Formats: sequence, structure tokens, C-alpha cells
Amino acid sequence: MDANDVQNDIKHVLFSKEEIDAKIKELAAQIDKDYKGKDVLLVGVLKGAIMVVADLSRALKAHYTMDWMAVSSYGSGTKSSGVVRILKDLDTDLTGRDVLIVEDIIDSGLTLKWLQQNLVSRGAASVEICTLLRKPKSVKTDVDVKYVGWDIEPEFVVGYGLDFAERYRNLDCIVTLAPHVYS
Ligand code: XMP
Ligand code: MG
Repeated sequence: MDANDVQNDIKHVLFSKEEIDAKIKELAAQIDKDYKGKDVLLVGVLKGAIMVVADLSRALKAHYTMDWMAVSSYGSGTKSSGVVRILKDLDTDLTGRDVLIVEDIIDSGLTLKWLQQNLVSRGAASVEICTLLRKPKSVKTDVDVKYVGWDIEPEFVVGYGLDFAERYRNLDCIVTLAPHVYS
């Protein structure tokens, strides 16, 4: 067995490339419909959302602009605290803009809740959220998410932008990892 072969680290494929493609197209069609005639700014949250933004933006048919933010959530270990630091801010003035935050995954929801409030405070006309994945059993806040690809069980997943120790982002599917990866 080749230790460098990513396939050996996969326990279970949750969503295949084909399933993701179909889901992204579905979300894009809904977004195009809901925002018809509006000038929407897509805000991708680095780094996890890169694949979602890349594919979603290309599936959208109307005009959209894109910008990026990087945030880091203070917390103990892997748990999010809701106290957020901006590592890379937007270049775009949000005054009067309709903003759609694009995320890979919502776990506790604390980061997104903070981010949504932060963007609203900059004078945006609206700030909605689109996430490919959400873990409803982990969500700890009443954050209002307009678009959700799939609700999943609270297990750790990687691929399609999501990482473990910065690896697996380049997988074209979403998977759980074999126990040997963590040991
Ligand atoms: P919140 O604030 O919603 O944080 O708790 C969401 C962020 O936590 C990370 N996260 C994951 N990353 N696989 C990952 O690769 C997962 O299963 C997972 N669950 C949460 C991720 O950075 C997300 O933006
Ligand atoms: Mg993220």
C-alpha cells in the first residue's frame, strides 16, 4: 500500500463528485431565482469554501461579484468559541449591498453568527448565508441559514475544500477518514 495515496485514508464517501455537482447546481438555481435583478456580492470564507465558491459561482447564471474573508475562531482545541479574529478582510464596500456568505460547513454556527452580524454592521442591505454542509446537532446558536446543501451527523468530514491538518482539501468528494489517519 502506498502511504502517499489519499484513497487509503478514506473510510467512507459521504458525497461523491456527482452528488456535489448536482447539489451545487440546485443551490445555484435557487440563488439565481431569489436574487433576480439584484447585484449580489458572494463572500467566500477562506480556506474551506474555495471549492464551493469556485463551483457555485460558475453554476450561477446572473452577474455576481466575489470577495474573500479569512477568519479565525478562538477556542479550546477544535471547539469554536464565537470570538472571531479577522485574518483577511474584504476589499469591497458593503454599503447597500446584498451579500451572500458562502461557507463549506456550519458546526456550532458561532463563527457564522459573528460574521453575519459583522457584515450587517458595515451597512449591507442584506446578509444571507449559503453553506454546503451543516451539522444540526452541533449548532449552538440561532443563526439563520438561507441555503443548506445537506444536513449531516456531527462527525468530522474532509474533502472538497475541507481539511484535516491542511490535507484532503483537494479531494473532489466529501469523506470521513480512516482511524489510522488520526493516530
Ligand atoms: P463553527 O463556528 O460553525 O465553525 O463551529 C465552523 C468551522 O469549523 C470547521 N469545521 C470542520 N472542518 N471538517 C472540517 O474540515 C469538519 O467536519 C468540520 N466541522 C467544523 C470549519 O473550519 C468550519 O468553517
Ligand atoms: Mg470554514
